[in-house]
Amino acid sequence: MEKPPVDDGARGRLTKDGIRIYEQADFAGMHKAGRLAAHILDEIAPMVEPGRSTAELDAEITRMVEEAGATSATIGYRGYQHASCISVNHVVCHGIPGDKRLKDGDILNIDVTVIVDGWYGDTSRMYVAGKLSRKAERLIQVTHDALFKGIEAVRPGNTFGDIGYAIQSYVEAHRMSVVRDFCGHGLGRVFHAPPNVLHYGRPGTGPVLEEGMFFTIEPMVNLGRPETKVLADDWTAVTRDKSLSAQFEHSIGVTADGCDIFTLSPAGRFHPTWG
Ligand code: MF3
Ligand code: CO
Ligand code: CO
Repeated sequence: MEKPPVDDGARGRLTKDGIRIYEQADFAGMHKAGRLAAHILDEIAPMVEPGRSTAELDAEITRMVEEAGATSATIGYRGYQHASCISVNHVVCHGIPGDKRLKDGDILNIDVTVIVDGWYGDTSRMYVAGKLSRKAERLIQVTHDALFKGIEAVRPGNTFGDIGYAIQSYVEAHRMSVVRDFCGHGLGRVFHAPPNVLHYGRPGTGPVLEEGMFFTIEPMVNLGRPETKVLADDWTAVTRDKSLSAQFEHSIGVTADGCDIFTLSPAGRFHPTWG
């Protein structure tokens, strides 16, 4: 969700836009890493309840990453010290786990990135502590469906602008707004690589999708205005107007006729009111 560095992954080739094209055999590594990240998000679900602190959730995630013999991609990343980002209510992304306890009706995104055999699996989803309000439910549903509108636009020959357009037009049709200040990213043997995957845009613009590209789609949607600001901790991004914000993230790979989702929930619990 930030400006990507130059891709220094060693495999495959780079397009003229600097996007790495991975090989067929590399999909297996991404599936394994993605599955672990998604499994951890499945397993944390029962712990999300009023009274629980976000630091406790993060400690459990750290334990699960270690127990799996994997590595957290976020601990030590640009000075970040936690295995997850936990973004509650009007926090857009990069919420730092802490002692604050969840209250009834809070909605939160938990974002986990793991490294397995050198491959990165990055996914996030929404949870609710206690009872879900009608307006939060609507926000979560639209954000979830917007991610899948973006995923449906992924196939060789389409462009990154087609993905952004699919997401933005869906969200705005529901009178909500797409955050512009953070984007998805290429990943694979590195955490953040080209391209910036914008969640807004115009059809037919941007780099052309090719089989073997690996990247995230991770739209952040606000009930109010799209503007964000970063707090004094240099990480926590919040909505400027204090409106509620939601986000879902999958890591995907472009195939010959569409895409593979690396971070599908093994338990079928990607959406908070499923499973
Ligand atoms: N997982 C986040 C993303 O989707 C990045 C978190 S970086 C951290 O790109 F340092 F804040 F953890
Ligand atoms: Co990401
Ligand atoms: Co993430």
